[in-house]
Amino acid sequence: MYTQAMDTMGKEAGDARPALRSAEELRRQEEFDARIDAGEFIEAKDWMPDHYRKTLLRQISQHAHSEIVGMLPEGNWITRAPTLKRKAILLAKVQDEGGHGLYLYAAAETLGTSRDQMLDALHTGKAKYSSIFNYPTLTWADMGTIGWLVDGAAIMNQVPICRCSYAPYARAMVRICREESFHQRQGYDALLTMMQKGTEAQRAMVQDAVNRWWWPSIMMFGPPDDQSPNSAQSMRWGIKRVSNDTLRQKFIDATVEQARVLGVTLPDPDLKWNEERQSHDHGAIDWAEFWRVIAGDGPCNQERLGARVKAWEDGAWVREAALAHAAKQAPVKAAA
Ligand SMILES: [Fe+2]
Ligand SMILES: [Fe+2]
Repeated sequence: MYTQAMDTMGKEAGDARPALRSAEELRRQEEFDARIDAGEFIEAKDWMPDHYRKTLLRQISQHAHSEIVGMLPEGNWITRAPTLKRKAILLAKVQDEGGHGLYLYAAAETLGTSRDQMLDALHTGKAKYSSIFNYPTLTWADMGTIGWLVDGAAIMNQVPICRCSYAPYARAMVRICREESFHQRQGYDALLTMMQKGTEAQRAMVQDAVNRWWWPSIMMFGPPDDQSPNSAQSMRWGIKRVSNDTLRQKFIDATVEQARVLGVTLPDPDLKWNEERQSHDHGAIDWAEFWRVIAGDGPCNQERLGARVKAWEDGAWVREAALAHAAKQAPVKAAA
């Protein structure tokens, strides 16, 4: 999953667009702009403006971190899945998320930053990940709801990135989106089973999970367009293809019908069909909560980061052993 926080981090010092330094650089910039305008893809070895590189690096690394941190809320339920079938599905899904993180770290590395640097930024709290993973998973219904709403929102966000102007990112996203589609369906299927074949208590559990995840899910599309200062530049560069509000609206419109089939209520009394706009109107989103969670004050921020740092430290011996093994093998391979 996830891209939400990607345009919320552009206010750092040193992030201002650098002045062009030479006629040569100006020529290259013009050439680059023309390639973007012509819809061409940019490869890792091509010249690119510094700001384009930094913007992509920030977005792709935050996306990678989100996939890896996103394994935690669901990983928590693997041992408590209700059946062997659901356990196997959840295991496969969480493993997919780990794979997504790895494709994305690899794509970000092509921009010149090492994986160790990116992980260090995550572990020291400098890098962000999607705020959705700072909410707790209280019941088994949360597993289905995350698949349905969180992976569903992720797909809506990520399909346009398959056409991102930076080719290594676009290629990673094609594969990721295929797997996200499975994630969304397994979640919906788990909820449908509980709603149609479950007990009254299980149906109430589904409704409770939907009540808790709905608003954080629609926040995943990021701040409103008029409060998203980096979006225009990202659109200009073909990194972002569709605006936050447009994607959010598409997601809401698609989800309302799915909720009806499922038999749950979306927790927004102002959610209603607008005949004139041919779309749903919705209630006000609590952006103060969004910014608070991004800034580190969500229900699980400390727990999530603590778990990542512990996993990194506990895994040190594996990395050391792998490096020692590679060093031993190097002379053998060179002699062969
Ligand atoms: Fe994913
Ligand atoms: Fe996913």
